[in-house]
Amino acid sequence: MPFRTTVITGATSGIGKETALALAKLDHAVYLLVRDVAKGEELKKEIIAQTNNRSIFVMHCDLADMQTVVDAANELKGKLFAINVLINNAGGINAARQESMDGNELTFAMNHLGHFVLTMSLMPLLQKGQARVINLSSEAHKIARPELLNDVQFAKGFSSSKAYALAKLCNIYFTKSLAEHYGQSGITSYAVHPGVVKTQFWSSVGGLNKFLSWLISPFMITAEQGAQTSIYLAGATKLNPKLSGQYFKKGKPTKPTLAAQNTSARNKLWQISERLTERFLQANQI
Ligand SMILES: NC(=O)c1ccc[n+]([C@@H]2O[C@H](COP(=O)([O-])OP(=O)(O)OC[C@H]3O[C@@H](n4cnc5c(N)ncnc54)[C@H](OP(=O)(O)O)[C@@H]3O)[C@@H](O)[C@H]2O)c1
Repeated sequence: MPFRTTVITGATSGIGKETALALAKLDHAVYLLVRDVAKGEELKKEIIAQTNNRSIFVMHCDLADMQTVVDAANELKGKLFAINVLINNAGGINAARQESMDGNELTFAMNHLGHFVLTMSLMPLLQKGQARVINLSSEAHKIARPELLNDVQFAKGFSSSKAYALAKLCNIYFTKSLAEHYGQSGITSYAVHPGVVKTQFWSSVGGLNKFLSWLISPFMITAEQGAQTSIYLAGATKLNPKLSGQYFKKGKPTKPTLAAQNTSARNKLWQISERLTERFLQANQI
């Protein structure tokens, strides 16, 4: 019997790949939710070859296409009784404004909204598994102001850095709101800054940020190092329940910006997220 059942997004590259591999070594059953199934199947083979853990499964889930998120959640509901760990790891930055399949600004959709739908759709399984929900955030949240929530679609002018910073601020808000709304039913949640990590992430930055990333690349940590906080939170036998809702760096809770501690902005994000995903959540009877 596997030790825990873990669902992870964005495991086909970088931090997510190292996290999935490490959790497979810890004997978790790992469900890889991927947008590219062929890449996911390759990863599955690699994990089985390295760990001999055969409880590795691949499912299609494109966070920029909410119907596929709901479909993946329904498939999991048909297969599993409970989920113990959900790692909302997938994410990235976009150099120009693009839209998701559902017409939302892509950075907001792939980093936050898709994971909002996934988490809410899986809630019955998460509650049964007394799950830990781990959301990959970033120190980039430091440049985001709550006022950015007035235009989550960046209809009034797009900035790649601001869109990413807002999405990562939303990951912190979502973490705290999850702990608040679902703590009574045994759910705990954690936001993570993995460090500045040498991954595919940097291939999508544009303009001045591309030059800056080239300058700092010798100082970036490896994906394996960047995965350590996620692995700790997902793999630890016990975690102090008081840590739920907090923002972690280097394996320890730390204070995010004052903006990230703004309760009314956090509640506003919840309302915006519910409004933008209403038809998917209703169809899924959440
Ligand atoms: N690297 C850093 O320095 C850094 C710093 C702070 C926070 N983070 C956060 O850490 C997380 C992991 O990033 P990483 O550095 O490991 O980046 P990465 O190597 O680019 O990996 C990103 C993963 O997300 C997946 N993904 C992207 N869009 C998706 C979508 N629409 N649906 C499903 N999956 C999607 C990618 O799938 P494909 O393989 O199909 O592309 C890939 O598996 C992200 O949330 C990122 O914001 C990274």
